[in-house]
Amino acid sequence: MIAITGATGALGGQVARLLADQSPTLVVRDPSRAPDVGGEVRQASYDDRAAAELALAGVDTLLLVSAAESATRRQQHRTMVEAAAAAGVRHLVYTSFVGAGADATFTLGRDHGDTEQAIRDAAARSGMTYTLLRDNFYADVLPWFADASGVIRGPAGDGRVAAVARADVAGVAAAVLLAPEAHAGAIYELTGPEALTMAEVAARAGAAVGRELRYEEETIEEAYASRRAGYPDAADFELDAWVSTYTAIADGSVATVTNDVEKVTGRPARTLEEALRP
Ligand SMILES: NC(=O)c1ccc[n+]([C@@H]2O[C@H](COP(=O)([O-])OP(=O)(O)OC[C@H]3O[C@@H](n4cnc5c(N)ncnc54)[C@H](OP(=O)(O)O)[C@@H]3O)[C@@H](O)[C@H]2O)c1
Repeated sequence: MIAITGATGALGGQVARLLADQSPTLVVRDPSRAPDVGGEVRQASYDDRAAAELALAGVDTLLLVSAAESATRRQQHRTMVEAAAAAGVRHLVYTSFVGAGADATFTLGRDHGDTEQAIRDAAARSGMTYTLLRDNFYADVLPWFADASGVIRGPAGDGRVAAVARADVAGVAAAVLLAPEAHAGAIYELTGPEALTMAEVAARAGAAVGRELRYEEETIEEAYASRRAGYPDAADFELDAWVSTYTAIADGSVATVTNDVEKVTGRPARTLEEALRP
């Protein structure tokens, strides 16, 4: 049995639809919003260990989609990993982030590093195998970094981002879920076919979505100040995540292009324009 979490969201929903002929089990917090792909729909939040263990009963292969950013995300992921191991899941696929680890420039990459460690520990104890999908930033999200006047602002310098289409992440996840033994222990760095500066991203993404976009450099201090002004209620961890999205681009953390998408799916990774095609 294949199960997919986060199926009410963009990525999990795409994977569920790609695997519709397998009737995957969907594990969601709100069953009324689950896509209809012919499988069972089970209810569990990442905060509820008992519900998660029940929802994962009988599951052989699980895609754990990382949670929305929150102050308790590390604990939520640990809850799901522990529940998967306890429920007897044989193979866990997790959507991590490129460069995940305690020293990641992108602060949410540190959370992903914590989850990867939890997966390794649980696997060592239970015999569960796993595949880590270390995604770059999603290419199809980049135009949404712009403000109402079409300006993308941040301290990215001339750094480059090898952003990946969410559809390619979904394609890789679906391929791994169909043949877990072939991908046991693998860590895939999922990127697009090229690494672009934010000025290039703005120009090309703008042309692709029919909106004039441009990139404006900020210092780190200016980046914190502009985000604090725009979102006065934002928590420190959110501000750190938003600003470090750009500093991770500036320092080369997300610039490496791989051919892992093609290696797993057999199809070249989508370009920025292809990722943005409706
Ligand atoms: N690499 C990148 O650039 C990038 C960008 C954005 C996000 N991400 C990560 O990738 C993940 C998937 O992306 P996406 O575009 O599919 O995001 P999305 O559309 O927001 O979907 C997130 C899914 O996760 C579920 N979820 C979140 N928190 C949960 C919790 N505590 N318990 C149970 N379910 C929970 C959501 O359920 P509900 O529908 O009930 O909310 C939803 O189904 C995101 O959650 C985030 O961790 C990466």
